[in-house]
Amino acid sequence: MRLLSIPGALWTFSLLQYGATAVPTWPAASDELEELMFLTSGYRSRGFPTAITPCSKGAGTGRVAAAEWLRTAFHDVAPGSIFTGIGGLDASLIYELSSAENIGPAFNTTLQTYSSFFSSKSSMADIIALGVYTSVRGCGGPVVPIKPGRIDASESGPSGVPLPQNSFGTFQNQFARIGFNTSEMIAVTACGHTIGGTHASNFPEIVPLNTAPNDVIDFDTTNVTFDNKVITEYFDGTTKNPMIRGPSASNGRNSDFRVFNGDRNTTMTSMQTPAAFASTCGTVLQKMIEVVPSGVTLGDVLVPYQVKPTALSLYLLTASNMSFSGEIRVRTTTLAASQIASVQLVYKDTTGGSSCGSSCMISTAYKGTGSGFDDTFTYYGFSTAIPTSSSISSFNVVVTLVGGTSTTYDNNGAGFAIDDSILIQKSQSCSNAGTVTITAAVRSSVSRTSANLALALKTLRSGLPAPGLSSTSVSMTPGATMGSWTIFSGSYSLTAGQNATTNVPLPARNIPSSEPSTVASATAEIPSPRVRSQEKQIAIYKNTGFVQTINPNITGFNYLGCYTDRQDNRTLGGTSTSNSSLTVEFCATFCTGKQFFGVEYGSECYCGPSLNTAAATLRPGSECSMSCGGNSTEYCGSGNRMNVYNRTTILSDEESGPSLADYTYQGCYSDSTASRSLSSKATQSNSLTYASCASFCAGYSFFGVEYGSECYCGNSLSTASSKVVESDCSFACSGDASKICGAGSRMNVFKTSSSTGSSTGPANPVISGYNYTGCYTDSVGTRTLNGSYLFDNALTIQKCATFCNGAAFFGAEYGGECYCGAQIGGNGAKVVDSDCGFLCSGNSTQYCGAGDRLTVYGKLG
Ligand code: HEM
Repeated sequence: MRLLSIPGALWTFSLLQYGATAVPTWPAASDELEELMFLTSGYRSRGFPTAITPCSKGAGTGRVAAAEWLRTAFHDVAPGSIFTGIGGLDASLIYELSSAENIGPAFNTTLQTYSSFFSSKSSMADIIALGVYTSVRGCGGPVVPIKPGRIDASESGPSGVPLPQNSFGTFQNQFARIGFNTSEMIAVTACGHTIGGTHASNFPEIVPLNTAPNDVIDFDTTNVTFDNKVITEYFDGTTKNPMIRGPSASNGRNSDFRVFNGDRNTTMTSMQTPAAFASTCGTVLQKMIEVVPSGVTLGDVLVPYQVKPTALSLYLLTASNMSFSGEIRVRTTTLAASQIASVQLVYKDTTGGSSCGSSCMISTAYKGTGSGFDDTFTYYGFSTAIPTSSSISSFNVVVTLVGGTSTTYDNNGAGFAIDDSILIQKSQSCSNAGTVTITAAVRSSVSRTSANLALALKTLRSGLPAPGLSSTSVSMTPGATMGSWTIFSGSYSLTAGQNATTNVPLPARNIPSSEPSTVASATAEIPSPRVRSQEKQIAIYKNTGFVQTINPNITGFNYLGCYTDRQDNRTLGGTSTSNSSLTVEFCATFCTGKQFFGVEYGSECYCGPSLNTAAATLRPGSECSMSCGGNSTEYCGSGNRMNVYNRTTILSDEESGPSLADYTYQGCYSDSTASRSLSSKATQSNSLTYASCASFCAGYSFFGVEYGSECYCGNSLSTASSKVVESDCSFACSGDASKICGAGSRMNVFKTSSSTGSSTGPANPVISGYNYTGCYTDSVGTRTLNGSYLFDNALTIQKCATFCNGAAFFGAEYGGECYCGAQIGGNGAKVVDSDCGFLCSGNSTQYCGAGDRLTVYGKLG
């Protein structure tokens, strides 16, 4: 027999698409998941993708089940924390469906669909991860590699799913909590928002009821294809993404807009080709589903076996003969089934030798062909009788090609090991009227007197979308002997809502099991190591020295308790900051000069002169259950829940406010896009500090910081601007979280002690063939210039003119956006020039509009 090495090499190569090269050794704990993943149609299909095939399928008009599967995984992962090691992909979503963060029926439908695939052989968390692979690949996206081994939570976890109204800084903190940097956050959000859309029934502020067909607006024009359109349409200005344009732009729920351009479009630009989109999404989605609680160790990337025994059965026919049957699954992805001449089993007797009665060779016959998204599998069946005297201990599989060459598959050197010490007697085992009866032949050398039946039970749970798992053990009654085996029998009656699978286990040796290995146990279903999640998790926390979380004593403060908070009316209405490495101590220092401070949501810190009783109600301490981003042993509130501390002494006056050497702080002032308080020039920076704004405004009498990251200069304060209460200015500076940089329409204003205010400032340059037409209003929903557009991190007026290539009008906005148009349309109205105060991202001597303000040029003649 000539041995062929090429097919093996080819097959290994073809595993690279799954992100792995090593094939597993059978049997593995992930065998069930492997089948759900790779057997999706044809012979022996497990049918996992049925509910999302085709990709447009959904549980009602306007619903896309594949999108719901992908979003389900994100909502399970998002509240997790790599800092505390709590949460991540752990199926805790099962217990979190009443939370306002998980609005809509999608999660319930998805988890119910998954429930029928859930068993002791694969956790719900692994199935949710598999849902990501299946929905993405099933909709034409890349392979998202799956590593098995997730453990299911037994209760709800912390809250913390990003909400569309959150600020960019909060998004950064929320994604940092699951280990994602800004670029990864942008990428994974774009990858999520390429299928499905936003539903009016869930988010009426984004899609008002009765304004869209089926009350849904898709993220892109190919909402049932996992492709790069979400990005190309964003760049070419045709996007209809309701989280970019439309009502969300005016009520602050346009989170995709804030997220996508959060790094000035660097990430979006880098992944705009189909290939880059697919490869980036494969990577970031894999990262997303690999956020797991501490103590959970994932296995190797799941790849299909080249050769896998299936449906094996070994039982006694008589005292001298046993039946051995099953099928051999051969991966025929790169090697066509037509090239295979035969598949044979070569087995060893019970002692590992070759005394098999007549011959140690079993032939097979073609049974059928099945496939996955990227693989095909051909099944070869066998059924034979072998003498009990020699029995069987393992086999290898020999695949012979039409040309005569053969390859032996020996299960990574281990052989496919068969256990003949406990045999499930198929024909005497059944499930009838709710009673499971298993008859097993146990080698008398193992036990003549006792054997136990271990059952894994799925039990329906009222109010929860997925059943619970438990296991029970029934002692079996010994009966007659048959040759070297004693026959045992045991029954279990299911109670209402219980379900036990009567699948008999494979007669494989070395079945991975967390059961103590008492060989005298017959196992009706093999509990996988992942079943007993609860006990395991607790044990792991104990083993790694888990420390009780507390509300720490802070010198100079009393801890008051856990209070409610409201986003529209803060419990502590003074300054605030958010910081992914927040500690209670940091917040106490940040709130120097304030009577109260409070920590919320793991990462937010609020200060105030008093408790706002309209917002604050004392709640049980258990509701403030999130630990602090910077110290997992301290509590930092939770969603809309704040741990509040009060000074032991009453402060006589308020804090003195922001300060910077050589400047006099003027106070917190109102500002508006229609009439800027400081209108000479402006910039935006993700690392804004008082000093950086002062330096940008060198030569001007005033500088002002707003919205955490905006800086404005001027020689006088607009008369439309008025001084407001200090607590109105509450956003942390993007470059120094311990300082306050205004808020929405609120500016901290500083006046230089030295300048006479004489800067000439930048200008609107002269462009050949065009006239500067003026500063116009613009809005995301209805563009003033509605032709093509460009986002550019180094925009100049000349560049915009060139891009618009002879258009009647072109205009620059927000420092880096360029729009073209045949006319000034939309709701564009001319406003004072000083409104267009942002400098061009590529030339700080030129004006390029401002937020919702367009510097417009019109063609001459
Ligand atoms: C800043 C981060 C994010 C925010 C604020 C956000 C918010 C939202 C909102 C409000 C919807 C509309 C849901 C509905 O109306 O049913 C939605 C839909 C969706 N999101 Fe996100 N999302 C974010 C990130 C992600 C990520 C990272 C993923 C997955 C990788 C994802 C996947 C999806 C999918 C697939 C849908 C469509 C659901 C459907 O059509 O039923 N999202 N998202």
